[in-house]
Amino acid sequence: MSAAPTHPAPGHSHGHAPASPLTARKSAALSGSLRPPGDKSISHRALIMGLLAVGETMIEGLLEGDDVLRTAQACRDLGARVERLGPGRWRVDGAGLGTLATPTRTMDFGNAGTGTRLMMGVVGGHGITASFDGDASLRKRPMRRILDPLTLMGAEVVSEAEGGRVPVTLKGASDPTPIEYRTPVPSAQLKSAVLLAGLNSPGRTTVIETEASRDHTEKMLAYFGAQITSEPHGEHGRRIVLEGRPTLRARPVIVPADPSSAAFALVAALIVPGSEVTIEGLMMNPLRVGLLDSLMEMGADIEVLDRRIEGGEDVADLRVRHRALKGADIPAARAPAMIDEYPILAVAAAFASGETRMRGLNELRVKESDRLAAVADGLTACGVKNRIEGDDLIVQGAKSVPGGSTVATHLDHRIAMSFLVMGLASEQPVTIDDANMIATSFPTFRPAMERLGAVFG
Ligand code: S3P
Repeated sequence: MSAAPTHPAPGHSHGHAPASPLTARKSAALSGSLRPPGDKSISHRALIMGLLAVGETMIEGLLEGDDVLRTAQACRDLGARVERLGPGRWRVDGAGLGTLATPTRTMDFGNAGTGTRLMMGVVGGHGITASFDGDASLRKRPMRRILDPLTLMGAEVVSEAEGGRVPVTLKGASDPTPIEYRTPVPSAQLKSAVLLAGLNSPGRTTVIETEASRDHTEKMLAYFGAQITSEPHGEHGRRIVLEGRPTLRARPVIVPADPSSAAFALVAALIVPGSEVTIEGLMMNPLRVGLLDSLMEMGADIEVLDRRIEGGEDVADLRVRHRALKGADIPAARAPAMIDEYPILAVAAAFASGETRMRGLNELRVKESDRLAAVADGLTACGVKNRIEGDDLIVQGAKSVPGGSTVATHLDHRIAMSFLVMGLASEQPVTIDDANMIATSFPTFRPAMERLGAVFG
């Protein structure tokens, strides 16, 4: 067995690791190929399914970013044996649905909203008490949206920080009440929390969403043996019905490459003149590739090659070439399928001719940072005209972007990577105030981009 990647000591995440600024400089044409790391959403879910299933779940291609390592630790705290067998190869020997252990310490999720919220669902549906905490960014994020339906199912919030934030102590329900729940915001984390709590319910749990969000939880529950159906609801929504108390059996999971991480190399290749880059093994789940649709509308040169099924997901390789982009109007209905990609789309828009309007970005305000404000401030710092109108962000593109400034990342990995990409094509270098958070989702970002020809430092 090879050594596990280092996991920060629990309790240390609210302290401040020394900030580590990084500068990106105008780069010559990018070329070559890149296989992005494993998908973050699927990585969290693979570990959690391993925890709840009976038997050994073997995982290939797990993202070994800090967020996911926190979920691995939480699975151990809840009674699973979790081992790293080699790079990206993990084995989870499940505690089994209904038989979780009570953690003996606070589960520290660091920066990870997904890990926290999905695990709140797991704990909320079991008769155990557990405490959740995280870093300064996580401590600002809303958890009421998760705790409300869990309370309806019989869980009890023993304590919470003001405004429904972590630290939270939750006492789960041993016989969760089956509910029909309409999600008030389009959120896969919220949907997943309710479904995961409903797993241990003696009845049928229904979740209705008016805008379809990513469906990895539903797919994985079905793959592990649960009875779950998902039907269209209204114009853009889904109605998901889960039968409680299934026997979940361990299955092998192959984690496809993360489209949200691929997005940085993709946009870098589009904006750095002369570039041609191939991105390999990218997951093409339609609920995740809204960025591709948006970039195509902006005139991007992206060829989709070798579409195939790998590990139950649609994947493909993408060949991306630099091309002048034009502004576009991005509809609000597309937001759930590209929710994490707005910062990097805003960078593409800065280099496009004309105006790009991104509509319906309210949820961006409650991500790892207030991403709407962080993107707008970063663009302004780099000399890109932009404005916020209600929930819309409007970016005025130009042939050249001045750069030459330092961008505040607010503990947000996607803000950090997006503005580094901007610096690869701006006139003057762009510095980010702290590159540490990149390790939450894309620990190999810098060397992977450097292999394509990106200049940092
Ligand atoms: C995720 C869902 C999204 C996304 C996050 C990952 C998931 O959050 O922003 O990075 O894995 O379910 P919301 O559910 O809050 O929209």
